[in-house]
Amino acid sequence: MSVEHLPPAAGSADAEIDNVDHPMRRMTERMAFEGGWDAAAFGEVESLFDTLSAEWESTRNDPTRTDGVNHAIERARVPLGGRVVELGTGTGFGARRLADLGARPLATDLSAGMLSEAAAAGVERLVRADGARLPFPDASIDVVLCLNMLLFPDEIDRVLAPTGALVWVNSRGEGTPIHLTAEQLDEALPGEWTVMASRVNVGTWAVARRLG
Ligand SMILES: C[S@@+](CC[C@H](N)C(=O)[O-])C[C@H]1O[C@@H](n2cnc3c(N)ncnc32)[C@H](O)[C@@H]1O
Repeated sequence: MSVEHLPPAAGSADAEIDNVDHPMRRMTERMAFEGGWDAAAFGEVESLFDTLSAEWESTRNDPTRTDGVNHAIERARVPLGGRVVELGTGTGFGARRLADLGARPLATDLSAGMLSEAAAAGVERLVRADGARLPFPDASIDVVLCLNMLLFPDEIDRVLAPTGALVWVNSRGEGTPIHLTAEQLDEALPGEWTVMASRVNVGTWAVARRLG
């Protein structure tokens, strides 16, 4: 286990811990540690986020939502010149932030409703894909962003290039329904990884790279 906690950004606070019993928290921990993603789980998550898609952009459009993306990339020095993918983009807050930072991200989601909202919000490169079965060759991606997205550890391990980085951001830290600590991330990923982690505002982030 190798997690380095960097000092939090100025003004950061612990998030209110109000979602630990949320069904998506249980799903997050199950997918990270036990697996079991199947047609029923896919259908449940797709239906939930299709239903939420129309209101997502207007109800979550807080400029601090993606601060963890910036901080992770700057502080863990993640280069954005290669193949950059966001999983579970929703309406594309993360992909838009990556584009602002100079990347040319490919944004993916399983929810057609979310992808349609992302297109309306100006996200250019969108693909409907299941994060548990990505349409990418082995070792073909340099940076994977998961902003409030489920972790599928084996699939991340499969698609990331040997020197690639997983950027894991929970915009409300421990209060985010889809949340894992940096230690849980390290434990869930197969093999040996090194993880840098910190906080910004009420959010948490972690960047995982393979050791060696
Ligand atoms: C909590 S939302 C976060 C959306 C966006 N990243 C944000 O922070 O605003 C989770 C998103 O992940 C998507 N998602 C969940 N499981 C997925 C999977 N297996 N494959 C692809 N997308 C998935 C959902 O459809 C939803 O859009």
